[in-house]
Amino acid sequence: MSRFWSLKTHSLTPYVPGEQPKEGVYIKLNTNENPYPPSPKAVEKIRNMDFTSLRLYPDPDGELLKKAVSDYYNISDKEVFVGNGSDEVLALVFKAFFDEKATIAFPDITYSFYPVYCNLFEIPFLQIPLREDLSIDLNDYPTDVKGIIFANPNAPTGLYIEPRKIEEFLKLRSDTLVIVDEAYVDFGGKSCVDLVSRYDNLLVVQTFSKSRSLAGLRIGVAVGNSALIEGIKRVKDSFNSYPVDKIAQLAGAAAIQDKEYFETVRNKIIETREKTKNIFREMGLIVTDSKANFLFVKIPGIPGPRAMEKLRQQGILVRNFNTGRISDYLRITIGTDEEMAKVVESIKVIMAE
Ligand SMILES: Cc1ncc(COP(=O)(O)O)c(C=O)c1O
Repeated sequence: MSRFWSLKTHSLTPYVPGEQPKEGVYIKLNTNENPYPPSPKAVEKIRNMDFTSLRLYPDPDGELLKKAVSDYYNISDKEVFVGNGSDEVLALVFKAFFDEKATIAFPDITYSFYPVYCNLFEIPFLQIPLREDLSIDLNDYPTDVKGIIFANPNAPTGLYIEPRKIEEFLKLRSDTLVIVDEAYVDFGGKSCVDLVSRYDNLLVVQTFSKSRSLAGLRIGVAVGNSALIEGIKRVKDSFNSYPVDKIAQLAGAAAIQDKEYFETVRNKIIETREKTKNIFREMGLIVTDSKANFLFVKIPGIPGPRAMEKLRQQGILVRNFNTGRISDYLRITIGTDEEMAKVVESIKVIMAE
């Protein structure tokens, strides 16, 4: 603490990201990174780039990357915004559309950065409880809020809502801005991007950190109608003109163009997830029907924090959110088959103790 801190800085409760260990050899399944490397075409772009060009600023609006994203989804590049990771994109989105006079709603159990942005930007918020089975029921959301945000699939539950249901909701709530955070949508869900041309109250946020194995480059995307995108850009240009660096723009564009590699990697992760889910269920664990690159599991009779610590002692990092109804759950990122086999063995050891 410093005497120079503002009152606001004193009042903040920052988001706590999963541990990135600096030493020790761990099987790292705590931050939903991809166990496979990025597309070789993205790596090649970085290797072959003209490094002298780094003396110049990057394109402020990430045109190259925006174009690659709009081509991929067959939409206009005016419907795309790119930023420095979806965390930053989400922050700009919250600032662009909500303020102290605009209450927003999100599930009580979802990405825990949403309340952090609300506190930072002084946006009032309501947390709507998930159903008993941990699912989101959009009918539970009040009609008098300016915005609603949820992750689909949700984090950390992995549970997914079909776009058909989201579309019905968009029609019913045409005066509410609905933000769908699709960080995990590529692992078996279907994106709502196709709906943005028809619904001006929909904004979709995605990331290259998970399905495209580029967490280290920091690339996030928002897709919405051009007026929404213009609003986000106004905030971006009032904060940081060049959020996406040249290396990220080049490699990100190459990654999204490499559809074949993307399909191979995501299919492999889905296959490993389904296999592991079945094994966990056979072992008696409670496992949600995750459509993400992680499983959300409860080991009967073992408190979540203890299970996390026991796995850590065996060299495996997973995440436990020690709060409320989910305090006994672990969120385990899907790694390689070999890594998941070690997780299964370690959980068997813990259960036998
Ligand atoms: C639901 C959700 N949204 C957004 C993010 C942020 O991703 P990034 O900032 O790496 O793009 C995460 C990261 O774990 C997430 O779980």
